[in-house]
Amino acid sequence: MTKDLGPKIPSSEITPRDVYLSRRRFMGGTLAVGALAASSAWGATPAQALTFSQTAFPKPADAVTDRALATTYNNFYEFGTSKADPARNAGKFNTKPWTIEIGGEVAKPKTIGVEELLKFDLEERVYRLRCVEAWSMVIPWIGFPLLKLLAQVEPTSKARYVKFTTASKPDEMPGLSYRVLEWPYTEGLRLDEAMHPLTLLTLGMYGDVLPNQNGAPVRIVVPWKYGFKSAKSIVRIDLVADEPKTAWNSAASNEYGFYSNVNPAVDHPRWSQKRERRLPGFFANHDTEPFNGYGEQVASLYAGMDLTKFY
Ligand code: MTE
Repeated sequence: MTKDLGPKIPSSEITPRDVYLSRRRFMGGTLAVGALAASSAWGATPAQALTFSQTAFPKPADAVTDRALATTYNNFYEFGTSKADPARNAGKFNTKPWTIEIGGEVAKPKTIGVEELLKFDLEERVYRLRCVEAWSMVIPWIGFPLLKLLAQVEPTSKARYVKFTTASKPDEMPGLSYRVLEWPYTEGLRLDEAMHPLTLLTLGMYGDVLPNQNGAPVRIVVPWKYGFKSAKSIVRIDLVADEPKTAWNSAASNEYGFYSNVNPAVDHPRWSQKRERRLPGFFANHDTEPFNGYGEQVASLYAGMDLTKFY
């Protein structure tokens, strides 16, 4: 078995960053904390200032996927169903101004602009994104744990799930004229999944703001789940009592479950999930790891659940 990704991350490393950093200081560590200008890391010229820290999160051993590939081989059905469509068709997508409305079962609903989101402590995290179609990429994302935003709105005791609703702009998204999915694209997580420190509200990648085709200006990335759970271009977040309907689950519930944790032991009805094609490779060249390699951090969320039933 190939074992080249090492996200067997010590628990210290997935503690929310402030706690982790203050703990390190308390221990007398000499950890360097510095916000870097976004431009240098990946040779990209930032369209917008993005300040983030590179110190808190361990980089896996995997080679980072070329930016050119990660921004031209995409799933974003609002711009078309082929992998090349989003880069080709998302140029007219206007993401300014942009706000996210947060409501539902919360004590303090609010509308927040991207400018405010950019003021959170942003950090770079290299996560692998494993698509349900059995390919994967390794991407340096920039964002902050979603839990920090959810804490601000104070979920009530009735809140058990989080529903994400994404943009639906027919004039700018040509894929919306085809009813391949129910629009707007929606996704959901259980509240404890959404509050897990690995779940990243993401504003950038490769040292720069997100390109339109990757979910500008704000998406989530849930590294232990199949890629479709990572909703792009989010406009609403609702805290809800019941498991929300989601776009892929509504389209084919036997193929795309609500949980969709990366699981080599549960095949998709039309293909195996045991191996994956790490792009740019042509063939399945890696074994798929349970929870995409993050089992140590997240498996306890599913203790006692039959993951062949809750796929
Ligand atoms: N979000 C929206 N709004 N629409 C989509 O079609 N596709 C999902 C997910 N988020 C999708 C979406 C799927 S299937 C995958 S694999 C990932 O986005 C792909 O993210 P990437 O193109 O940045 O690699």
